[in-house]
Amino acid sequence: MLNGLVTIQPKTNMPTIQKGKTVYRKDVFRLTKNIPPKPYFEDRKHKIILFNENCLKALPLIPENSVDMIFADPPYFLSNGGFTCHAGKKVSVNKGKWDASKGKEENYRFVLDWLRECQRVLTPNGTIWVSGTSHIIYAIGYAMQQLEYKILNDIAWFKVNPPPNLSCRYFTHSTEIVLWAAKNKHSKHYFNYPLMKKLNNNKQMLSLWSIRAPGREEKKYGKHPTQKPLALLQRIILASTKKGDVVLDPFSGSGTTGIATCREGRQYIGLELEKSYLNVSIKRLKDSFEDKE
Ligand SMILES: C[S@@+](CC[C@H](N)C(=O)[O-])C[C@H]1O[C@@H](n2cnc3c(N)ncnc32)[C@H](O)[C@@H]1O
Repeated sequence: MLNGLVTIQPKTNMPTIQKGKTVYRKDVFRLTKNIPPKPYFEDRKHKIILFNENCLKALPLIPENSVDMIFADPPYFLSNGGFTCHAGKKVSVNKGKWDASKGKEENYRFVLDWLRECQRVLTPNGTIWVSGTSHIIYAIGYAMQQLEYKILNDIAWFKVNPPPNLSCRYFTHSTEIVLWAAKNKHSKHYFNYPLMKKLNNNKQMLSLWSIRAPGREEKKYGKHPTQKPLALLQRIILASTKKGDVVLDPFSGSGTTGIATCREGRQYIGLELEKSYLNVSIKRLKDSFEDKE
């Protein structure tokens, strides 16, 4: 027993039942105890902790080899004053100050810095998923190669219902890439192959995923300009984690990763710069606890 709270199981991170209670080998509250100031939100029962913090400051305060899986949906640096189409109207592509480009060199340094910290905190067999469009995904792939991550898959997420291209000078943008990588070449990564096959009518699941962008129901507590669909995160979590695992999102946004994580009985650490997005996450999370109970 550690701190009266956590039971160590030497070989597995699976939760165990003791006196009717689930106890975990790892614990998100202990792993984040060095991050000041106080968490923005925590839920001890569902094992969720959110910080209003820059991930470059918070990640170095998390112990190495401690996080089982990371999902990162970073700034794509595409807020360049251009336009796109939303609900049939021409709207600015600008997402916020956090998405403004600082120039190629500085953008790349940022990518290297957070990817390096993510690699440090991942467990030896842990994996990371990173989403991106052409604006950022090549820099991420190159940084992963430089840091000697082992790239496992490049998932093509087909958005099924994309907005039309207003200029009619390009194909309609309808995909994003999600890179899946292990900490390094020695990693023995976890993949729930049987479940993925079962979810795909008993055929091997392809690296092409058709998933619709989030609908109104997923945005009822407020909008995030780059919110990911819950179905995408649910698949990622089911494919690459076990119950009780620790999942971290350094760019937590409206908390999509946290909700999928909590629904599937994993633990969650979310880092996010903007309080307004954290407030949306908290409402979404509380709603999903009610669904579960
Ligand atoms: C692409 S969005 C993530 C959206 C999220 N996946 C969702 O479904 O809501 C990126 C988020 O990262 C936050 N962000 C940007 N730079 C950050 C940093 N250095 N540390 C922590 N959060 C950051 C932004 O405020 C934004 O909410």
